[in-house]
Amino acid sequence: MTMLGRYRIDARIGEGAMAEVFRAHDTQIDRVVAIKALKAEYRRDPEIGRRFLREATAAGTLSHANIATIYDVGETDGVAYIAMELVAGKPLDEVLKAQGRMPYERVLALGVQMANALAYAHARGIVHRDVKPSNILISEDGLTAKLLDFGVARIGDADPGQLVRTQIGQMIGTPRYMSPEQALGLPVDHRSDLFSLGIVLYEMVTGKAAFSGAGLATLVLQIAQAQPEPVERSAADCPKGLRFIIEKLLAKKPEQRFASGEQLCLALRRELDATTAEKPPRRRGLALRVKLPLVLVATTALALAASVATVLDRQDRALEHMAVVSGSSITAFITSNAAVLAADNAGLPPDQQDWAPLQAFVDTAAQDTGVRRLVVADATGVVRAASDRSLIGLPYAPAAAEAPIASADGSTVTDAAGDAGFRFVRPIRYAGANFGKVDLLLRRATLDAAADSARNLLFALSAFVMAVVLLIGWLSASLITRPIRRLRRALEDAAEGNLSFRISHNRNDEFGGAFDAFNRAAAALEPQLGVITEPAPSQTATLIAPRRAA
Ligand SMILES: Nc1ncnc2c1ncn2[C@@H]1O[C@H](COP(=O)(O)OP(=O)(O)OP(=O)(O)O)[C@@H](O)[C@H]1O
Ligand SMILES: [Mg+2]
Repeated sequence: MTMLGRYRIDARIGEGAMAEVFRAHDTQIDRVVAIKALKAEYRRDPEIGRRFLREATAAGTLSHANIATIYDVGETDGVAYIAMELVAGKPLDEVLKAQGRMPYERVLALGVQMANALAYAHARGIVHRDVKPSNILISEDGLTAKLLDFGVARIGDADPGQLVRTQIGQMIGTPRYMSPEQALGLPVDHRSDLFSLGIVLYEMVTGKAAFSGAGLATLVLQIAQAQPEPVERSAADCPKGLRFIIEKLLAKKPEQRFASGEQLCLALRRELDATTAEKPPRRRGLALRVKLPLVLVATTALALAASVATVLDRQDRALEHMAVVSGSSITAFITSNAAVLAADNAGLPPDQQDWAPLQAFVDTAAQDTGVRRLVVADATGVVRAASDRSLIGLPYAPAAAEAPIASADGSTVTDAAGDAGFRFVRPIRYAGANFGKVDLLLRRATLDAAADSARNLLFALSAFVMAVVLLIGWLSASLITRPIRRLRRALEDAAEGNLSFRISHNRNDEFGGAFDAFNRAAAALEPQLGVITEPAPSQTATLIAPRRAA
């Protein structure tokens, strides 16, 4: 076969029970398509051909990102065919065969898309009736799922006469994904698709078929009556919420499944949100994530400020004490050196006095960088030696109004604030008599430098401690707010009457206990809620528009 109507057949992609699928080219509008053509053995039965096309025509109205679009249906030379979007990727059955079980996050993400597609089609009155892995195409990157064959592959249940033939068809194909109502030949609605999707999800999670009976009779019995092996047997770490979704989808009674594709979609999305990064919710006031670190930092800052102030104050006093002690001993040394000379000179007339050795001593002492000024005056109050030689011969002028720090034995230590130093004044005594005084001014600079370096170090340490506290606060707040947010969302949904989900978790702490308590409450309340919210069929039957799947 090279041409089918206006389509040029390029290659065969695959084959199912009733049809073959080809990659083809629409010569009229120059586009690549997939052509699904009824197999030769079914072409003799015009009823099968009509049904094949009729179902596809209904599905042709669907336009959705996760549904392969139908472009055209027709019959040429007795061959009924459907032209549709050629979807790149691999059918899910091949993907599962190659990879085995899928990661839960991937199952959830693909599940959301499939539930979305079903919800969309159901809302337009179209039931798929053949949801199964070979009808789900997964894109090469594994991120997108597209549903194929809406209402196409299975011959409808409207005509009971077709049932036997349908079952033969199913035997050739794969009836493992039938719902109990399909298996029993009962009328089906959108909830049949949800059951089939449940089997698909079960297989994605466990890597095993939910119902594995070899013959049609065994399979029908299993689907109608048996419970599949619990999910946790093959997937022990499966999130509770996902397990619950699959179990709910696989309920034998349609009314015990999700009421609609939308509800299923919501439940899957919640699970997906729980496993991936969560969106920041609206909130009143400051978030705990901000408040907790702020409170911690503020408290730490106060405690640090008090301790740093105490430490610096003690240190300042200790340094000052050291300066006073060392300054006093320097002054005492100078005084004792000047004493003999001053006593000698005191006994001589002024023109015979010799102060040169004292000046030499003062010059040497003044070389010390700590010494700002050194003045030695005689008993008459005349300056006889000084680091600043211009003062020699002038009357000694004592500094006025300096804050006293210490005094003993006629010696004083004052705070020479104007000269940024400490002043030590000590009388020169020899043999019990007074021969003048020594006035030494020491710089505070070294003292201040030591104090500054200690202060900077303390500030740097404080900043580091506060940064660590901030980080700890932020991390612990994040750890707390995440589970609280999940619980709050669950409660919000419950408040809106949706209890068709469970919170998945592996926690052994207080939050785990709260989640379990919520799950127990949901399980206890859900049956009562279901009775109230499930609309009675007689109420919806009067609607003219196709029943919305809800
Ligand atoms: N539009 C399409 N684009 C790409 N591949 C497709 C398309 N339609 C069908 N296929 C692939 O062609 C193969 C045959 O599809 P077909 O629907 O005939 O059979 P099936 O779904 O495998 O089984 P059954 O006949 O039992 O429903 C499948 O592997 C399917 O993934
Ligand atoms: Mg198919």
